[in-house]
Amino acid sequence: MPDNKKMIITSALPYSEAIPHIGNFVGSILPADVFYRYTELAGYDSIFICGSDQHGTPIEIRALKEGVAPERLADSVHERMKEIFGKFECRFTYYGKTHSESNKKAVYEIFGALERNGYIKSVESVMPYCNIDKRFLTDRYIEGKCPYCGFEGARGDQCDNCGRLLTPGELVDPYCGLCHNKDIEFKKTMNLAIELDKLQPDILEFVKGRMGSWSKNAANKTISYLGQGLEAREITREMKWGFPVPKEGFEDKVFYVWFDAVIGYIGISMEWSDKWKDYWKNPETRLIQFMGKDNIEFHTMMWPGLLIGANLGYVLPHTIYAYEYLTAKGLKFSKSRGVGLNMENALEIADADYWRFALMYLSPENSDTDFTIALFVDIINKVMNDKIGNYVHRVLTLLKNSKLRVEDLKTDIGQMPKAIKLRESYVNNFEGFRIREALRDLVAIADLGNEMISNKKPWEIVGKDGVLPGNEENARSMLGSLVRLVYHIGMLMWPFAPEASKKILRRFGVEKPGISLLDNEIEALDLEGLEPIFTKFSEKQLKKLEKFEES
Ligand code: 2FM
Ligand code: ZN
Repeated sequence: MPDNKKMIITSALPYSEAIPHIGNFVGSILPADVFYRYTELAGYDSIFICGSDQHGTPIEIRALKEGVAPERLADSVHERMKEIFGKFECRFTYYGKTHSESNKKAVYEIFGALERNGYIKSVESVMPYCNIDKRFLTDRYIEGKCPYCGFEGARGDQCDNCGRLLTPGELVDPYCGLCHNKDIEFKKTMNLAIELDKLQPDILEFVKGRMGSWSKNAANKTISYLGQGLEAREITREMKWGFPVPKEGFEDKVFYVWFDAVIGYIGISMEWSDKWKDYWKNPETRLIQFMGKDNIEFHTMMWPGLLIGANLGYVLPHTIYAYEYLTAKGLKFSKSRGVGLNMENALEIADADYWRFALMYLSPENSDTDFTIALFVDIINKVMNDKIGNYVHRVLTLLKNSKLRVEDLKTDIGQMPKAIKLRESYVNNFEGFRIREALRDLVAIADLGNEMISNKKPWEIVGKDGVLPGNEENARSMLGSLVRLVYHIGMLMWPFAPEASKKILRRFGVEKPGISLLDNEIEALDLEGLEPIFTKFSEKQLKKLEKFEES
């Protein structure tokens, strides 16, 4: 049963550099959205906050290459992303962006508090400086020969050929990634860092108290990092794109993207509504954060560290749920425009419901999971169409043929212990963040219905033109049970396939779905214009999808 505690649900903020691919989507925003929809179904007081992560080197570099201002580029991709998430039926309470006045305010407030509380120090480093561009070159802005494999064009942070992580000083014959000149010198520069070492005991206490409700990978990784001991971490950088650092001597630097991205959860909420404080400053609120596994350390240590250090009364994360990767076997997943399967072109192949359902069916909850064309097609054809869609359509057609009125039906769920068990399991699985399992419970309800149809053979008592004489009583309870399961499917499918769910629920006169409605009498049933809720994957669709096969 839901308690009356508030919930903030977040997904890692996607970079607004390029449209995310479907592996990015299933690794964070989709499960967050599905979970948020569940909290609405269950009756929690929850909000779902997300937005575009607009700062950072890749965006600045792309903007420079394309000759546009980074803000313009980041805003235009942000608008496209917002639109596409809408098409995927993402139900954000608010989808904002990190380059906003409200986020700047939140960043400055937290930075100011961290400084006052003694957790900020200056650190000196030696960085490459381009004498032509007159700027420091952070790791991706400098290129050269890889000292390990000799690859020309290795970046200052990594060699794309051999995969080794690099530092700019290791590059052989370095040149500026912007102007391609070699007039580079290594100069001293100062940055600001948050002293996570000082905060380690508090972070450790926080982690110990909370990690019981985290995904295993989040808990394990964090324990191992903490075991190695935390070090001060830089929060500013030599870039132009970002929030300028409001401190004497550092005005030419900006905050590091990770710092204003995590604070973005607060900044975006501030832009949403004045109600943000009721959630963020309420010690009872559960902050539930979804992300891909590459974002674990930012959320389990750096983000709580800065909240603890600032001590401004913001809630700390309650649940951190990190997903493994969905890998595309034989298919191209791509964030860039054009070549690979991204969220934009995915919708040209199948509607959002199909992607949402199939992706959650394959959700990489405990281990990396392969996405293949064969699996995708099987889920659509064998699970969505054959099991769920056919069941719903058969029952509604039988009902229409029976000519029974809804008030004639005996729909008492109390007589259906198996259905009640599956519903309870669905709720328990959601509460334990086993979302993929909750989806399996929904499919099991359809299995149960299909089994009932095969055992009870309703076609033997319902003709094309009404119930066969002498079978009225039997038909009332048989069809009553079958339609009760359709009602369950409609309701419980809402987080996964919202369009199909709405189509079913509209027939029952339900505008706002809720689990508690499942025990109520079914009062309305509109059987006009019946048509299947799902269809099989067509040859035409298959051809379109196969275009993304790796050659
Ligand atoms: O990995 C990413 O896509 C980052 N933009 C996630 C940031 S999550 C948080 F810090 F906001
Ligand atoms: Zn190399």
